[in-house]
Amino acid sequence: MLAVVDSLTGQGERFAKKLGIPYVNIANYDGNKDDILLLTRSFNFGEVTQEAQDFMEQYGAYVKGVAVSGNRNWGTNFGAAGDKISKAYGVELVLKYEGSGFSKDVACVKAWIEREKQEL
Ligand SMILES: Cc1cc2nc3c(=O)[nH]c(=O)nc-3n(C[C@H](O)[C@H](O)[C@H](O)COP(=O)(O)O)c2cc1C
Repeated sequence: MLAVVDSLTGQGERFAKKLGIPYVNIANYDGNKDDILLLTRSFNFGEVTQEAQDFMEQYGAYVKGVAVSGNRNWGTNFGAAGDKISKAYGVELVLKYEGSGFSKDVACVKAWIEREKQEL
C-alpha cells in the first residue's frame, strides 16, 4: 500500500509519516501500480481539491481508500471532501481526522491497511 498525499499545510504528510507505509506527494506520484490510500483535505467549504479530482480521474482504479484531514470547526463540512470522493468514485472512505491525526486515528488507518493486505 502506498499513501499518496494531497496536503497544503503539511498535516497530511505528518499523518502519512505515522502510518509506517511508503508515501509520496501527489505532485510526485510516478504511476507506480501499488494499491493506493489517498490522503487529502477539504477546502472552500467542503470541496474536493483540484489535485485530488485530477488524481482520481487518472489513477482512481488503484485507489482503495481515502482518508481526509479536516477541522471540526467546519461543522457539516468537516472532511466533506471524503464523502464527495467516496460517492463520486466508489472509493471507501476510511476516516475523517483532525489535523495530523490523534493516535486513535493512526490506529484506525493502520488497521484498515492490514485488512486490505489480507484481502490481496
Ligand atoms: C481555506 C480553507 C478552507 C478549509 N475548508 C475546510 C472544510 O471545508 N472542511 C474541513 O474539514 N476543513 C477545512 N479546512 C481545514 C483543513 O482541511 C485542515 O486544516 C487540514 O488539516 C489541512 O490539511 P493539510 O495540512 O494536509 O493541507 C480548510 C482550511 C482552509 C485554509
